[in-house]
Amino acid sequence: MSHFADPQLVIRPARMADAAILRDLHLVTFREHAEREARFAMRPFLDPFLADLAAPPAPLRQILSMRRRSVLVAEVSGRVAGYLAATDTIPPFRSSSVFINDISIAPNWRRRGIGTALLRAAEARAAAQGHRFAATGVWPRNAASLAMFEAAGYRFRTTRGGFRAGHRMLAPATA
Ligand SMILES: CC(C)(COP(=O)(O)OP(=O)(O)OC[C@H]1O[C@@H](n2cnc3c(N)ncnc32)[C@H](O)[C@@H]1OP(=O)(O)O)[C@@H](O)C(=O)NCCC(=O)NCCS
Repeated sequence: MSHFADPQLVIRPARMADAAILRDLHLVTFREHAEREARFAMRPFLDPFLADLAAPPAPLRQILSMRRRSVLVAEVSGRVAGYLAATDTIPPFRSSSVFINDISIAPNWRRRGIGTALLRAAEARAAAQGHRFAATGVWPRNAASLAMFEAAGYRFRTTRGGFRAGHRMLAPATA
């Protein structure tokens, strides 16, 4: 399948107006996880990210919680095609990293480079904030996700229970 001609694709921070479509997409991919993974028992977790869009926590509260949530949206010709939800850990209490909590592309937009574009945008944002690595977790039977992260340079190890934990060092941002 051909990859995107860039002008159609816009990566931007999520807005409150996106909440309903992002929640729907989250539930679509949760159903896919549940169909694939016999032991899948996670509950949908996007709502706290959406709540932070509605009322961003004060900086002191972010520091005390040692994390900051963010959501990026991929838009194609003005329509939401996918999103990426991430959590920055805030040093000095935690190592300087971004954790990719969720990445989801609408089924009819997959395999066109949008997931990778979201990932690269999240990494660039993290590097600009001084983070040194990006990490994620993937269910073991999620071949598409593992393939995308591996193609993007992530190295995976299998944790106890079979879950796959991946990470990639980030190049320092250039000024
Ligand atoms: C995983 C996911 C985000 C990938 O997004 P995407 O936009 O389709 O990925 P890309 O087009 O950027 O793919 C980049 C590369 O990853 C690999 N890849 C992606 N999907 C693949 C698949 N289904 N099978 C094999 N390789 C795949 C390929 O190497 C691909 O490059 P190519 O198309 O040039 O061969 C998407 O399949 C998705 O939303 N899945 C459901 C939600 C999900 O499982 N999220 C991950 C939670 S951990």
